[in-house]
Amino acid sequence: MSGERPPPGRPVSDVFASGAYWREYYSSLGHENRVAGEFVLEVAPTASTNGLKILDAGCGPTLLYWAVFVPGVNEIHGFDLNPTNIRAVAFWIEQASRGYFDDAHLEAASHALAQQSSPLTPQQHLQNKARQVRSLGVADLSRRWPYEAGQFDLVQSCFAFECLPDWQSFDAALAEAHRVLRPGGRLALVNVAHASAWNCDGQSLPLLSVTANGMREKLVAVDFRVDALRDVESTDPDWREQGYGNLLLTCATKAATNTVTRR
Ligand SMILES: C[S@@+](CC[C@H](N)C(=O)[O-])C[C@H]1O[C@@H](n2cnc3c(N)ncnc32)[C@H](O)[C@@H]1O
Repeated sequence: MSGERPPPGRPVSDVFASGAYWREYYSSLGHENRVAGEFVLEVAPTASTNGLKILDAGCGPTLLYWAVFVPGVNEIHGFDLNPTNIRAVAFWIEQASRGYFDDAHLEAASHALAQQSSPLTPQQHLQNKARQVRSLGVADLSRRWPYEAGQFDLVQSCFAFECLPDWQSFDAALAEAHRVLRPGGRLALVNVAHASAWNCDGQSLPLLSVTANGMREKLVAVDFRVDALRDVESTDPDWREQGYGNLLLTCATKAATNTVTRR
């Protein structure tokens, strides 16, 4: 990408509909996607024989991409505000379940399998994961999520909460994640940190500037127990003009009982 800003007055394109987001951020596994995937794998709860019930909140076009990092025979759900992204995910899932794969998914699956010392081929793994997807929907992170309370073992969300327009929406999304998790269920977040914009398709797109301390306060305010907050310096700016340099990796747990001690 050029990194040039669009001239004033130029209409802002939908970087998801144009495919620019996928091309610029998923054509190579890169440092960030590797770290994010490994983090999801590390913090995903251990599955019982029935597998995990997983929600990818703000899944964008990448639900299948991140799904490969959670082992087991799971039940996967996802939603996003942008219907184009949900159509893209549905397309990838249909393709994978019929045995057709693209290079980006294969690269992610291959890395995930190596991390898990799994004997599966990337193709088998992607096909299995595609078959584990139970629902995809269009919904708003900052409003009531269309799921009953207390049902998910894992809510995961990559690079989405910081795209919300204001902190009130961010807080509302965290509260919804807490509501839909079962007691003892886990939240795994990957967010751009310390940045108020990111670049795609020559545009600068606004972000909420997330920090570890700010995230901790917000999680505690909605009764999460904070398990991990890792501020990671990315090496991807060495080859991509992305407009930010750090990620925040967050893991938090919903209390197993109603007796929550605020810290
Ligand atoms: C940078 S993309 C990340 C997508 C994907 N999770 C990933 O890891 O690549 C941000 C996503 O957040 C979604 N999003 C933004 N605001 C949202 C909202 N209010 N509710 C649900 N999704 C939203 C966008 O449509 C987009 O798919």
